[in-house]
Amino acid sequence: MAPALRTIGLHKNFGGLVATADVSLTLEPGARHALIGPNGAGKTTFVNLLTGVLTPSAGRILLEGADITGESAHRRVRRGLARTFQINQLFRDLTPLETIGLAVSERQGTGRDWWRRVGTKGAVIGEIVAIAERFGLGDALEERTATLPYGKQRLLEIAIAFACRPRVLLLDEPAAGVPEAERHEILAAVAALPRDVAVLLIEHDMDLVFSFADRISVLVNGALFRDGTVEEIARDPAVRAVYLGEEADA
Ligand SMILES: Nc1ncnc2c1ncn2[C@@H]1O[C@H](COP(=O)(O)OP(=O)(O)OP(=O)(O)O)[C@@H](O)[C@H]1O
Ligand SMILES: [Mg+2]
Repeated sequence: MAPALRTIGLHKNFGGLVATADVSLTLEPGARHALIGPNGAGKTTFVNLLTGVLTPSAGRILLEGADITGESAHRRVRRGLARTFQINQLFRDLTPLETIGLAVSERQGTGRDWWRRVGTKGAVIGEIVAIAERFGLGDALEERTATLPYGKQRLLEIAIAFACRPRVLLLDEPAAGVPEAERHEILAAVAALPRDVAVLLIEHDMDLVFSFADRISVLVNGALFRDGTVEEIARDPAVRAVYLGEEADA
């Protein structure tokens, strides 16, 4: 079986700055894989390369064996590579019902005005409600997104990505900025993602990383510094020194 996602020698310069340095990384089908590293290590740049937001300076990206390096961002989503959206101005004024509906109808190719024909779209509504409930948004379906607690807004981002029926889901700090009292909801939603979706989680919170992942890759200065099981990474003195800010012999 082809890996869910694989990069080969992925490289990105911004002028003289090397943000991604020859990264070859494999995400197995159904993986629970964390990507960690200090601020500015190149984690978000890597996701931007994977999703087609940025064009690599060199290297290749394979999704389930198919070379997607030159494909548009939109085409990659259609193939099953999704990431969490940043909530933009449009989405802030919509409800979760409308927003998830957009993602579902986009995937189905039914157009953006699905709610005008709601009577004929019972299946869409059923799917929207199921997704909303999975991400703790069942009671907030008709609220304006901007008025939701921040944790719920971030859950909506994951819900939108999930509505694309991804094979690979990229989560870039899904709990960042979420108040402590709401974090557990995000952790639970991430933990409950179906096992047939491979997940790459970028996160600074080590408790979350260790509870979620079975494999961890460590980026430092754009390059893959270590790649291993959670146990291997947790006890690696060089990782502790570089990333956790501990003494190498601690
Ligand atoms: N569009 C850009 N133009 C120029 N430099 C950029 C651009 N995007 C990112 N960089 C630089 O690339 C490096 C990697 O940034 P990136 O945002 O990928 O790091 P990160 O690991 O996601 O950090 P954080 O943990 O803070 O989110 C940084 O030095 C950053 O300043
Ligand atoms: Mg980042």
